[in-house]
Amino acid sequence: MTQKTKIQQTKVLETKLSGDSTIPVRKMGFDFSDVPKDYMNGSLAESHFFDGLNLLFPEGERFFMRAVRNGLNKIEDPDLKQQARGFFGQETQHAIEHEKFFDVLEQNGYEFRPKLEKMNKFIIKMRDILPHSLSLSITAGAEHLTAVLGATALDDEGVENSHPAMRDLIQWHAIEEIEHKSIAFDVFKATGGSYPMRVFGYLNALLFIHITSTYFVKDLLRQDGYSKREAKKLLKASQQNMLKKHPTLRQSLTAYFKPSFHPNNIDESGLVGKAMDRLGIA
Ligand SMILES: [Fe+2]
Ligand SMILES: [Fe+2]
Repeated sequence: MTQKTKIQQTKVLETKLSGDSTIPVRKMGFDFSDVPKDYMNGSLAESHFFDGLNLLFPEGERFFMRAVRNGLNKIEDPDLKQQARGFFGQETQHAIEHEKFFDVLEQNGYEFRPKLEKMNKFIIKMRDILPHSLSLSITAGAEHLTAVLGATALDDEGVENSHPAMRDLIQWHAIEEIEHKSIAFDVFKATGGSYPMRVFGYLNALLFIHITSTYFVKDLLRQDGYSKREAKKLLKASQQNMLKKHPTLRQSLTAYFKPSFHPNNIDESGLVGKAMDRLGIA
C-alpha cells in the first residue's frame, strides 16, 4: 500500500437494498496536494486526457447509479440486487475522489467550473427526461467503455510511472470498473433490453464521452498557452500514441457490437490481480 493511500474496506452503503455484495467498496483517502499539472510523465496532453475524463466522472457516475436503480425497481432478482450494492458503493466513492481532484486542477490554475456546470446540467436534464430503458442502455455501454479503458490503464507504462497519487487513483478506479462491469449490463438484460437498444445506448455513450472529454482536453491545452491548431495536433498525437501502445483497444471496444456479447467474455483478472497487489487492496 502506498504511503498516501488510506484504505478502508466498508460494507456500509447508502442504498435501500439489503444483503451483502461480493463487489467490495473501498474508501480511499487520496492526497492530491502535490500533483503537478503535467503529472503524466511531463506530458500535458496525456495528463489532460485523464483530466477530461475526470471532469466527466462525478455527474456521469450519478447518472449511471440512477439508471441502474430505476432498472432494479422493475425486476425481481435478489442476487443481482445484492451485487448492485457493490456497484452503488464503488461509483459513490469514485465520484467523491474525482470531485476532490477538481480542486487540484483549480490549484494548478485551470478555469473549468462554468463549463463543467453547463455539462452537468445537461447530464441531469438527460437523466430526468430520457426513457429509463435508454438511460440504462447508455449506462451499460458506458460501463463497457470504462472497463475497457480501465484494462488499458492497468496495462499502461505511462500510468505506472505517473505521479503516485494519480497512478493510484487511476488504477483503483480501473480495478473497480472491471469488478462491477457486468452489473448495468445484466440489469439492462433483465429488464428486457433489446440488442438494438443496447447498441444505440452504447453509441450515444461513446459519442457523448468522446465529444465532451476532447472538448475539455483542448480547452485545458488552450489554457496552457497552445493555439487552437497546436492543441488539436497534440490531442491527435496523444490519441494515436494510445492506439499504437494498445493495439487491442479497438477490438475490445467493438466487441460490444456482437449480439452474443457479455462483459464477462473479457478476462482482465491477471491485470487486476497485479494492480491489487501493488495497491495493497483486496
Ligand atoms: Fe466509476
Ligand atoms: Fe462504473
